[in-house]
Amino acid sequence: MKKILVIGAVGQIGSELVPLLRTKYGNENVVAAGHSKKPTDDLANAGPFEFVNVLDKESVETVVKDHGIDTIYNLAAILSATGEQKPQLAYNVNNNGYFNILEIGREQELERIMTPSSIAAFGPETPRDNTPNETILKPTTMYGITKVTGELLGNYYFQKYGLDVRGLRYPGIISSETPPGGGTTDYSIEMYYAAVKGEHYTSFLGEGSALPMMYMPDALKAIVDLAEADISKLTHHSDFNVNAMSFAPEELATSIQKECPEFTVDYKPDFRQAIADSWPKSLDDSAARQEWNWKPGYDLKAMTKDMIEKLTPKLTGE
Ligand code: SER
Repeated sequence: MKKILVIGAVGQIGSELVPLLRTKYGNENVVAAGHSKKPTDDLANAGPFEFVNVLDKESVETVVKDHGIDTIYNLAAILSATGEQKPQLAYNVNNNGYFNILEIGREQELERIMTPSSIAAFGPETPRDNTPNETILKPTTMYGITKVTGELLGNYYFQKYGLDVRGLRYPGIISSETPPGGGTTDYSIEMYYAAVKGEHYTSFLGEGSALPMMYMPDALKAIVDLAEADISKLTHHSDFNVNAMSFAPEELATSIQKECPEFTVDYKPDFRQAIADSWPKSLDDSAARQEWNWKPGYDLKAMTKDMIEKLTPKLTGE
């Protein structure tokens, strides 16, 4: 990994992954690529920045050739809730876009492709508690269908072409920097923002909807550690479960109320409830622990403390 391209660099994960990779590998060795959203000055100026469209293969190819890229982190994706409103778009970006990336990897003989999968790869028939790595993958959302396809394609390119494709099934990711867009787990971030701004929050998921979640520093550590893992130790490639914490909306509210006692919440589940109901509550991540020493650092209490500390100056100027 000498020259890295991060596609989706302006998104929730990309905007924090790029600075971390630049610190680790050098500013000039990490090319950040966005689609249409304006990057922050830091993202655009600290190192190379390009615009690409994963559906326009040539636009990615040009950047790969111009910068001598050997590793791609593909974070371009339409998330679950938007995917249910625009299934054709989700299919196109997540499947056809990712296929373009894999083909570039094969044709240009890249060293590595990193790509997230998701808890959305599971479905209502999957065991919901401590969900095994190997289990029933019959998702009922378009997002989930594209994620299962991506996992299978990644494993296929590894077996057939020797392309080193690695991926992990992210739970809901919580962060204080760039808000996500169009996810079912986004309620959790909205709840922190409302609490810090002193506002009431109406949750679009109901009480009891426990889902696996992870704080951004752990999400970044997971993908970077997996990228650096010794390939001879990997039995899995594109489909690692990674677990950190699980909570339902009312448990998150209680955790926030310990820091912000005035905070109030009510619950009005919408179409996203059905998506949440089809996903696991917690994951068995023993494969990731054994094969590349995965271990999360944050639980709910530690995350809430840090989120509130980070969001308070940002949202209130205090
Ligand atoms: N956070 C994602 C979503 O809610 C799950 O991968 O869509």
